[in-house]
Amino acid sequence: MNYRIVVTTAFGVESVTKNELRKLGVRDPKAIEGSISFDGTEEDVMRCNLFLRTAERVYITVGSFHAETFDDLFDGIKALPWQNYIPRDGKVIVTGKSKKSKLFALSSCQSIIKKAILVRLMPIYRLRTFDESGADFNVEFSINEDRVTVLLNTSGKGLHKRGYRTLVAPAQMKETLAAAIVSLSDMTPEKPFIDPFCGCGTFVIEAALSALNIAPGKNRDFDFLHWPFFKKETYERLLNEATEGEKQDQELHFCGYDLDPAVIKLALYHARQAGIENKIHFQVRDVRDLSSRFSEGTLCCDPPYGKRLGDLKEAQDLTAILGERYRALGKKWSAYVISAVPDFERHFGKKADKNRKFFNANELCRLYSYFPERQQ
Ligand SMILES: C[S@@+](CC[C@H](N)C(=O)[O-])C[C@H]1O[C@@H](n2cnc3c(N)ncnc32)[C@H](O)[C@@H]1O
Repeated sequence: MNYRIVVTTAFGVESVTKNELRKLGVRDPKAIEGSISFDGTEEDVMRCNLFLRTAERVYITVGSFHAETFDDLFDGIKALPWQNYIPRDGKVIVTGKSKKSKLFALSSCQSIIKKAILVRLMPIYRLRTFDESGADFNVEFSINEDRVTVLLNTSGKGLHKRGYRTLVAPAQMKETLAAAIVSLSDMTPEKPFIDPFCGCGTFVIEAALSALNIAPGKNRDFDFLHWPFFKKETYERLLNEATEGEKQDQELHFCGYDLDPAVIKLALYHARQAGIENKIHFQVRDVRDLSSRFSEGTLCCDPPYGKRLGDLKEAQDLTAILGERYRALGKKWSAYVISAVPDFERHFGKKADKNRKFFNANELCRLYSYFPERQQ
């Protein structure tokens, strides 16, 4: 079956995910704020869930129609071919949002949509009641200027939940955003990679998974895996493809440092969970002592901003120390620093070659990129 697939992303990450999709063989992906859509098959849905590092979730579009009243909504939903997606025992969960529309009472819309889906399915399955004892089908609606769009969430939990990060560190970065920043950096498997403020290890682990070509979704569950109309053999084949593509022999010089011994313990645990504890190195170290025996490499980090951890003055001082230690590493090192510290470049002591906006934990930040000096 062919679907209109919708992949959602965080604000600012759309172009990165679009590149990933192109590398996965998707033709003509169309990006709008926070999502990318394209035509694809069941295999594409599975491939996106398994291999995308920077996306939030993967959806199938069930339909779209105009609605101004609850009757319009009921009729529009009932007219969609739900039997193509939901089996006789499916558990239907409806959530949604509305913007600039006549229908805005979300809980009423939710109940009407669910009722319309069941009214559509019951005669088809010859049922009087729907026991919903089977797999989850998360239906998400959005109403924008009276246009209703209905999507089916194939991922289930967000794709940032890879399965390795089970313990929580203060101010940890979302795995998908860390992966997007790594992908915007000049990280290569051959060059050293350092996060001097590594917390529970997210940047280093995401960089290593990417460098070793380990599929981010290989150790987790997805909603589609429980759906009868998605063939298990296809997913098994993709998993084999993923395993065959891994570069397990690649040696890495990837390190994470942090002042706090407690978060280093978490980072080590997460590296073990991700199955890459022998490939990467974590150690307690103050950024003041940052150094490397290598003359080139990539620095990537989110130092404290002063809002969530510590105060602003301390964050500014740490930014200055980071800038100084970065320059001491040598001219062939690059740096990618995500920060919300006002006037970051002045504190860091150098104007960035590039900067772009991101939201990290709902906070507007900038990724400051410093490229290595070109060799003459
Ligand atoms: C925003 S958090 C980094 C979160 C990390 N990216 C993650 O995903 O877990 C900033 C980290 O900087 C560490 N830190 C604060 N002062 C430091 C210093 N002087 N040297 C090294 N690390 C420091 C904190 O312990 C904290 O873990």
